[in-house]
Amino acid sequence: MNEALKLDVRNLQAGYGDVQVLWDVSLDVAAGEIVAIIGSNGAGKSTIMRTLSGLLPVKGGTFSIDGRPMADASAADLVRAGIAHVPEGRRLFSAMSVRDNLLMGAYLREDKAEIAADLESVYQMFPILADRRGQDAGTMSGGEQQMCAIGRGLMSRPSLLLIDELSLGLAPRIVDQLSDRLREINAKGVAILLVEQDVIAGLELANRGFIVDRGRVTLSGPAKDLQGNAAVREAYMGLGAA
Ligand SMILES: Nc1ncnc2c1ncn2[C@@H]1O[C@H](COP(=O)(O)OP(=O)(O)O)[C@@H](O)[C@H]1O
Ligand SMILES: [Mg+2]
Repeated sequence: MNEALKLDVRNLQAGYGDVQVLWDVSLDVAAGEIVAIIGSNGAGKSTIMRTLSGLLPVKGGTFSIDGRPMADASAADLVRAGIAHVPEGRRLFSAMSVRDNLLMGAYLREDKAEIAADLESVYQMFPILADRRGQDAGTMSGGEQQMCAIGRGLMSRPSLLLIDELSLGLAPRIVDQLSDRLREINAKGVAILLVEQDVIAGLELANRGFIVDRGRVTLSGPAKDLQGNAAVREAYMGLGAA
């Protein structure tokens, strides 16, 4: 784990083919932080996550980890640099076992004994995954699949976990459990950049937040400031002024 991690995103431009989606997105995550990205459907949240994990090319601007420029890095380079992406919709291999899905997260590692130890830590964190280790991932509930996707992310020993739509389609009780686990993961020194459509829950978990609207960052600040911000409350929480 890398305590010094600082993700610095500067004027990032990205999109799909000729269609530009992100316009001058700047944000940062320091070691030990939980940072939330908030925005409506289609705002560009997943596009940010995909660009930071090397799935989409950087078209302008840049981003760095610990001061090392990463705009030209491959997805594998970014995993080696400490970024793990838990994608929207979990994207497990549904016909593969839970255990094999978890091991996919360690595909760049060769330290067999340490991989086995990390697998045990994931099982300790999510005991249901230990019970289901031999079961096809696709046969599990949505919450269990999300645990498996988070566990897979941890298997690369990240210093920064990118989590896209933690709670989508999950019951509140499961979301609470997952939030507790994320706090534990964070307490062990893993920074988290979280996309969460449940803005109230997302800001509850985060230290800071960035509001994204139509591919641009329109507001940022400490989570408690955003929680009390009248425009944020009205647009994203369906609430009146604090
Ligand atoms: N694979 C894709 N090809 C083309 N356009 C896409 C693709 N994925 C997303 N987009 C477009 O990019 C914009 C931002 O999408 P996305 O980042 O998924 O938003 P969010 O995650 O905030 O809901 C939307 O206009 C969406 O239609
Ligand atoms: Mg999305």
